[in-house]
Amino acid sequence: MPLVSPKEMFEKAYVGGYAIGAFNVNNMEIVQGIMEAGKAENAPLILQVSAGARKYAGQVYIMKLMEAALQLADLPVVLHLDHGPNFELCKEVIDGGFTSVMYDGSHLPYEENIAETKKVVEYAHARGVWVEAELGRLAGVEDDVHSDEHIYTDPDQAKDFVTRTGCDSLAIAIGTSHGAYKFKGEAKLDFARLEKVSQLLPGLPIVLHGASSVPQEFVEMANKYGGNIPGARGVPEDLLRRAASMAVCKINIDTDIRLAMTATIRKHFVENPADFDPRQYLAPARTAVKEMVQRKIKNVLGCSGKA
Ligand code: G3H
Ligand code: 13P
Ligand code: ZN
Repeated sequence: MPLVSPKEMFEKAYVGGYAIGAFNVNNMEIVQGIMEAGKAENAPLILQVSAGARKYAGQVYIMKLMEAALQLADLPVVLHLDHGPNFELCKEVIDGGFTSVMYDGSHLPYEENIAETKKVVEYAHARGVWVEAELGRLAGVEDDVHSDEHIYTDPDQAKDFVTRTGCDSLAIAIGTSHGAYKFKGEAKLDFARLEKVSQLLPGLPIVLHGASSVPQEFVEMANKYGGNIPGARGVPEDLLRRAASMAVCKINIDTDIRLAMTATIRKHFVENPADFDPRQYLAPARTAVKEMVQRKIKNVLGCSGKA
C-alpha cells in the first residue's frame, strides 16, 4: 500500500472516538519498532519527521526506509513533517513525497502565522497534501529552544484562524508540553477549552503535541543504569485517552520512544559491559520501541484493529 493522506484516518477516528499515534522517527530501528507494533495491533500509523530528524537521517534515507516499511506491512501509513519551520522545507518534503505537513507558525505574530500557513496550504492542497497548523504555544523544548511559558489556544481565535487559512487540522495548547518535564504540580489538561474549540470547529481534527506519558518505570530504569533524569513526568495516560475520545485525532509521541530506547540501552550496557556489537543493544532497543508503541495504541489511542 502506498503512503496515504490522513484524511480518511481522521474521519474515522473523529466519529469513532479514538486517535492516531504520530510517532517521531530518526533511524531504522525506530521505524522498524513502530511498524512492528502497528502490524501486531492492526493499527493505522503516522510516522513523523522533524526538521532535525530529516537533517540527521537525510530525506533520501527516510523515503527509502518508508518504502521498505510499506513493502513489509499492509497498513495505512502517513508520512508527516513535524514542526515545519518555513514554507521552503514544507515545499521540499511535499515535492519529495510526504503526504502531510505541519507548518508551525505558533511563535509568529497572529497575522504572520495566518499568512505563512495560507501559503503552505495553497501549495500543499494543489498537490493533495494535508496541512496541520498550530495556534497557541506549548512550554518545553523544541529543536533545542526552551520556552517556559504556555499560551493556551483561544477558541474564538482558533475558529478565525482555521477559516482564514484553510488548514486541515489544528494543534492546540491545552496544557501539554514537549520533552520529559511536563508538570511540576498536578497534571491537568484544559478539557473545557478543547470542548469549546471543537464546538466552534465541528469536524476539525485536533492535534495534541507534547503528549508523551513518560512512564515512571522507564525513568527509574534510566536513572538506575547511569542516567540522570530525576523528576521527569508526562501526561497521565487516562487524560490522553479522554482527549482521544473527544475531537483529538492525532497524538504526538517522541519522548516516550527516546526514553524506552535509551533506558533499554543503558541497562544493556551495565549488564553486558563486554558487548560492543551495536546489534546487541539496538535489537532490545527496537523491541522496547515496539512495546512502547503497542502500549500507546492500547492505553492511550484506542486505535487497535482500526487499520
Ligand atoms: O516536538 C518536537 C519533536 O519531539 C522532535 O524533536 O526536533 O529534536 O527532532 P527534534
Ligand atoms: P513529546 O515530547 O511529549 O513526546 O511530544 C512530541 C511532539 O509533540 C512532537 O511534535
Ligand atoms: Zn510537537
